Amino acid sequence: MNEQDIIELATNQPEGFSMVQEFYRDPDIYQRDIERIFMNSWLYAGHQSEIPQVGDWFLFELADESVIIMRSTEDEINALINVCRHRGSRICVENKGCSKILVCPYHAWSYDLKGQLRGAAHMGESFDKSGISLKKIHVELLAGLIFVNFADRPSSFAPVRDGLANCLSPYRLENAKVAHRQTYPIESNWKLAVENYCECYHCAPSHPEYARGHSLAWPAQRTGQEHEDVLGRAQACGLSTDFVNRTYLEAPGFGADFAYERYALIRGHVTGSEDGKPVAPLLGDIRDYDGGATDLQVGPVTYALMYCDHVVMYRFTPLSVGQSECDVTWLVNGDAQEGRVYDRDKLTWLWDVTTQADQVIIEHNQQGVNSRFYRPGPLSTMEDFTRNFLSWYLDTMKKPGILSN
Ligand code: FES
Ligand SMILES: [Fe+2]
Repeated sequence: MNEQDIIELATNQPEGFSMVQEFYRDPDIYQRDIERIFMNSWLYAGHQSEIPQVGDWFLFELADESVIIMRSTEDEINALINVCRHRGSRICVENKGCSKILVCPYHAWSYDLKGQLRGAAHMGESFDKSGISLKKIHVELLAGLIFVNFADRPSSFAPVRDGLANCLSPYRLENAKVAHRQTYPIESNWKLAVENYCECYHCAPSHPEYARGHSLAWPAQRTGQEHEDVLGRAQACGLSTDFVNRTYLEAPGFGADFAYERYALIRGHVTGSEDGKPVAPLLGDIRDYDGGATDLQVGPVTYALMYCDHVVMYRFTPLSVGQSECDVTWLVNGDAQEGRVYDRDKLTWLWDVTTQADQVIIEHNQQGVNSRFYRPGPLSTMEDFTRNFLSWYLDTMKKPGILSN
């Protein structure tokens, strides 16, 4: 499918409907997704506590790309493209590690922790190492959360940082640690996974465990006295109740989305757990449980659930046209000791069971979309964020030529 065909398809797509099959199956559209969206957006790579020591690194992988997220010095994190400057081999082949120097496994070229070439045997007298280093991509830290962007000139991250500073401050996520991280493979196009995350129309039928405690599953509970009471308590607990929505078409720059919203949990629940009771110590500067939770979005494919005692980060990445993955990270206070003040199984129970259910419903969605009889269907009033995501996506697809920020 050429560019003109894709633009035409996006232009003819009916507003307020799910998209035609090609957007979930066509390899050329998938390639356009990677080039336009993933190569130009701020993407969550991980948390700084995952690389505490100089030389610690982990890989961030997406489609054909692999990036070494490296603690180069005590206060410098670099994102180095994991492609050797000799003949292009992957350099790091494990998911994470700690290195004094990076040595390519193919012909043993070696690089320092900032990616500068240091050693290359048998290259002749005139060979000059000094101008050769691993390609770096842009990195930004947001309260300890590491974001990367593949673009040479990405949208500024400053509006994201400024726009969320007040909201994120009480959680002190820069002092948090990863209590658990898990990847859930999904046999679907990445957009079906994001569309599913963006709506809670499916929550009541598909997530009984979640729906017991979360008002998002029940629109009637989103307003009224209970909601107002929780917002009042949130302020008393030191939490922001700002409503921020700079996502998709409202984002300050391409791929630099952000949103923050505090809302009431169902009465009797103070966090996202099996019984609604705390599963870890209060985060950061939060003084007490307000009975609420926060939805956070940073960039087009990273979301988080922020409770008073833990945060669950969600990142969606494409692997191929019909395969994606959801990476889930549970964050707790950095000094919280597992087995003493939190139990990992209890901490992760709700979002593990919910994500597994999502895997199944998203895969069923893809299977249905693959049918020759599938046609776009109308979205409900509970799918407004999905509608926004689709409008932004189609808008992005419609623009001809190179996407520039
Ligand atoms: S490809 Fe890395 S040293 Fe040859
Ligand atoms: Fe879900």
